[in-house]
Amino acid sequence: MKGVILAGGTGTRLYPLTKMINKHLLPVGRAPMICHGVEKLRNAGIEEIILVISKQSAGLYTELFGGGKEWGVRLTYKIQEEAGGIAQALSLAEPNMKRDEKFVVLLGDNLFEDSLTPYVQSFQNQGQGARVLLKKVHDPKRYGVPILEENKILRIEEKPAEPKSNYCVTGIYMYDTTVFNKIRTIKPSGRGELEITDVNNVYASEGQLAYDILDGWWTDAGTFQSLYQASDWLMK
Ligand code: G1P
Repeated sequence: MKGVILAGGTGTRLYPLTKMINKHLLPVGRAPMICHGVEKLRNAGIEEIILVISKQSAGLYTELFGGGKEWGVRLTYKIQEEAGGIAQALSLAEPNMKRDEKFVVLLGDNLFEDSLTPYVQSFQNQGQGARVLLKKVHDPKRYGVPILEENKILRIEEKPAEPKSNYCVTGIYMYDTTVFNKIRTIKPSGRGELEITDVNNVYASEGQLAYDILDGWWTDAGTFQSLYQASDWLMK
């Protein structure tokens, strides 16, 4: 199985830091943020990783990882040239996938405690479709929020004013290669981006969106508050 880490974006909520360096290279705990996702994938046996970055700080990524040898992985870099959204960034990995391959996608700013191994195994056993990981949160309005039915997700609402559950859809996604055709069917959202929630909702409408719930801590380190929180957890 391959992995994709999405590490582009402008990180405006972390200005002025992200004016000079890409968000995913900021320190959390003892290392740049991006190392977390690379290690989580490698520890789950995923050694072939496509890293989608922006032009900003591209040289720093290669200084950090090179081709990935020291980190026990094989890296391919892709440059996302415009801020087209998570789904647009993911579409850049299409040429690197075989026809019937399944793969794991991480948003590079998602930091978490759980090992990915059991979830990846469940996805391997699942057959077709997609699988997302959820986490119970106190502020679901900030995230994609799932409407759950038994062992499936009926639908996801992106940043709803009145969330219908206390769960957030984390930036840990598992897909089959039908995801690329699904991306081609969606339209840009109000913020002008191809939203990953719209892609996941295509799977949900086909009854093909499974989920697991993370046990350990999770945060997306996109704000100063959550960056600090993640550092605190990782240092412990
Ligand atoms: C994105 C997704 C959202 C998800 C979140 C997790 O939000 O759109 O569904 O819950 O990542 O980190 P964004 O960070 O783009 O606002």
